[in-house]
Amino acid sequence: MTQPTTPFAGKVALITGGTDGIGRAAALRLARLGAYVLIVGRSAAKGQAAITALQGEPLPESPGDSEFLPGCIEYVQADLSLMRGVQALAETIRSRFERIDVLLHCAGVMRPRRTLTAEGLETVFAVQYVARVHLTELLLDRLTPDSRIINVSAGGTLPLRLDFENLNGEKWYNGVYALMHESVANDLALLRFIRTYPALRFYAYGPFYVKTALFAEMPWWFNLMTGTFGRLMATTPDDAAEDITALVRSDRPSGMVSRNLKPIRPNAYRADTARQDRLWNVTQALIERAVTGSS
Ligand SMILES: NC(=O)c1ccc[n+]([C@@H]2O[C@H](COP(=O)([O-])OP(=O)(O)OC[C@H]3O[C@@H](n4cnc5c(N)ncnc54)[C@H](OP(=O)(O)O)[C@@H]3O)[C@@H](O)[C@H]2O)c1
Repeated sequence: MTQPTTPFAGKVALITGGTDGIGRAAALRLARLGAYVLIVGRSAAKGQAAITALQGEPLPESPGDSEFLPGCIEYVQADLSLMRGVQALAETIRSRFERIDVLLHCAGVMRPRRTLTAEGLETVFAVQYVARVHLTELLLDRLTPDSRIINVSAGGTLPLRLDFENLNGEKWYNGVYALMHESVANDLALLRFIRTYPALRFYAYGPFYVKTALFAEMPWWFNLMTGTFGRLMATTPDDAAEDITALVRSDRPSGMVSRNLKPIRPNAYRADTARQDRLWNVTQALIERAVTGSS
């Protein structure tokens, strides 16, 4: 009789955006492998639904009936469009956990029109880029060489350059462009994290196109287009979660990967350390401005 295994027993995983889509599918997978999974989002109802989904799974009748024994999912509420929300979340996590084994950045939104947060940042850029950098920084001393820090974005695959004069969508805004633009920012920040903390493991993962609620706020024609394209090309949140779980379990060096963990080599634009540093300094100033309200 095979004894059940819990490869992630005792491991702590923090998943922003773990209440829906790719993050939720990853949360369920990691919990099934025995991890203690903290899922972060704004909606308590979505958080509870993810917990119920795990609890609703049949438990093995006898230990030999299942390969794995499940861990646990806990919901933590936070609005990551606000850097003060990021700081409050980091404080909560730091007060409770000495070590984070998996930090998975999955929180994301797509907005058809430019909106600003109460702290003055463009919302998509705030949630999908600035909050990720800030949260990682605030949890650095809880991360170890065995930890995995994973950023779900386009994973270095987009042929786009960063417009430093339009980080906050101040010159012009388009919903699709905003999502792609923050992804390039994430690539540059990832490469700087890798360079600055060589003992830690940082990854960017680009799942390609996954059918989730991410596009819900976009206009009907956009959803018609992506729906048609999706019927042919889309993967599921669980496909992406499978890749993420494999990444967490792998020993590969820091870097960028796309579907099926295909390695992506950073192009010369992204590899430029002066550009990475420039974005880093601008990001720190944006965080400072958001938190203090200074202009
Ligand atoms: N879907 C794709 O095709 C695709 C492709 C490449 C990359 N990605 C990236 O993958 C990530 C996850 O996307 P998804 O498709 O899984 O999206 P999703 O299903 O819409 O899930 C988004 C998650 O982010 C959370 N969230 C949104 N705004 C938040 C905020 N202000 N504070 C805290 N949590 C917030 C949501 O929870 P609440 O609503 O409760 O806050 C939800 O859990 C995104 O960064 C996305 O850009 C997606």
